[in-house]
Amino acid sequence: MTSPSSSSSDTDAPASVPAKVKKEALGWMEWIRGWLYLAYEMLFQRIMASHLQNPLPLPPLDDVTCVITGSTSGIGRETARQMAQAGAHVVMAVRNTKAAHELIRKWQDEWSGMGLPLNIEVMELDLLSLESVVKFSEAWNARLGPLHVLINNAGIFSIGEPQKFSKDGYEEHMQVNHLAPALLSVLLLPSLIRGSPSRIVNVNSIMHQVGFVDTEDMNVTSGKRKFTSLVGYSSSKLAQVMFSSILHKKLPAEAGISVICVSPGIVQTNVARDLPKIVQTGYRLIPYFIFNAEEGSRSSLFAATDPQIPEYCELLKTDEWPVSAFISQDCRPTNPSEEAHNLETSYRVWEKTLQMVGLPSDAVEKLLEGEDISCKFGAQQHQD
Ligand SMILES: NC(=O)c1ccc[n+]([C@@H]2O[C@H](COP(=O)([O-])OP(=O)(O)OC[C@H]3O[C@@H](n4cnc5c(N)ncnc54)[C@H](OP(=O)(O)O)[C@@H]3O)[C@@H](O)[C@H]2O)c1
Repeated sequence: MTSPSSSSSDTDAPASVPAKVKKEALGWMEWIRGWLYLAYEMLFQRIMASHLQNPLPLPPLDDVTCVITGSTSGIGRETARQMAQAGAHVVMAVRNTKAAHELIRKWQDEWSGMGLPLNIEVMELDLLSLESVVKFSEAWNARLGPLHVLINNAGIFSIGEPQKFSKDGYEEHMQVNHLAPALLSVLLLPSLIRGSPSRIVNVNSIMHQVGFVDTEDMNVTSGKRKFTSLVGYSSSKLAQVMFSSILHKKLPAEAGISVICVSPGIVQTNVARDLPKIVQTGYRLIPYFIFNAEEGSRSSLFAATDPQIPEYCELLKTDEWPVSAFISQDCRPTNPSEEAHNLETSYRVWEKTLQMVGLPSDAVEKLLEGEDISCKFGAQQHQD
């Protein structure tokens, strides 16, 4: 794999460099370019990915333990099934545990006679509750076992819905797609260190290209921007890329943890469940352009298992590349948006995120030194 070609001459500068005038919105050119990327992906993703097999062949994963969020539906469900069939110990981290148990029964039946029973278990995790994230992480870390792959797959895109807030007070797209996965990634670092070489795979989206993050208005309530589900979704996905870039920088090579964002392509899943029925029907009528879930799971599976990924992430680190690895729907390294290269904003997103999820600003440094940290949302849980 080679580094993606640079699209931006923007800041390789550390946070200490004097801030430029703060951007209030995405520039018109960036916005148009973002939408063109989206249209291009929609029309040509199948051609771009024509070199890939479906399903993606996986290496034996018998020694791999993997946590996959949102594995009851769509891309996460396919990822969980295929990783388990390749031999991995898969933990389905889901809010609907009944649906997950039913899926496991179905998969075991289908797999019967083809090898050892699948090694899958279910643990409850509701990303709309940061307390649930802390509870999940504490339960997992208490096992004192290794975690080799964390796939932050769960996500929402509540198209056309009014703005909603979690009980923690955060806009729901921002919480489910960025804040909760960020908290989970940091809190699981002790297990990921035990599993090193290990990986954090964030299922992102080409839609980050049209996103903009205002760290003073993460909930989009100031009135500076009008909230739409598109604004909520694209901002949350860009925030995830920016947070991943700083996490990637803060993890030293010795920690052996690769941080990767992936774009699954445009995939027929339940993500469009909130679209009007007529649009959903239209969606189904264009199967040539849209991936099925198996095709859409390939970039996640690639990022989770390809042997060259750690080396590639290291290369980006050595080159002081401003963004973490980003793998496109055709399983090739690509460049996230120009705005994602803005290191000043990425550092602001990092700080703001840690503050919002109730972690100290030196959480990662402390965990790397083997120290304990506490999360504000865990404290609530212990008081109950
Ligand atoms: N489909 C696409 O075209 C597309 C394109 C780009 C990126 N993506 C990204 O791919 C990822 C997977 O989406 P998908 O297309 O497979 O959609 P999906 O079929 O709707 O699956 C989303 C999964 O996330 C889970 N989830 C939602 N809210 C949750 C919460 N509060 N706590 C825990 N789990 C929660 C859902 O659980 P329930 O079943 O319980 O609701 C479901 O298992 C998302 O991050 C999405 O943004 C999708």
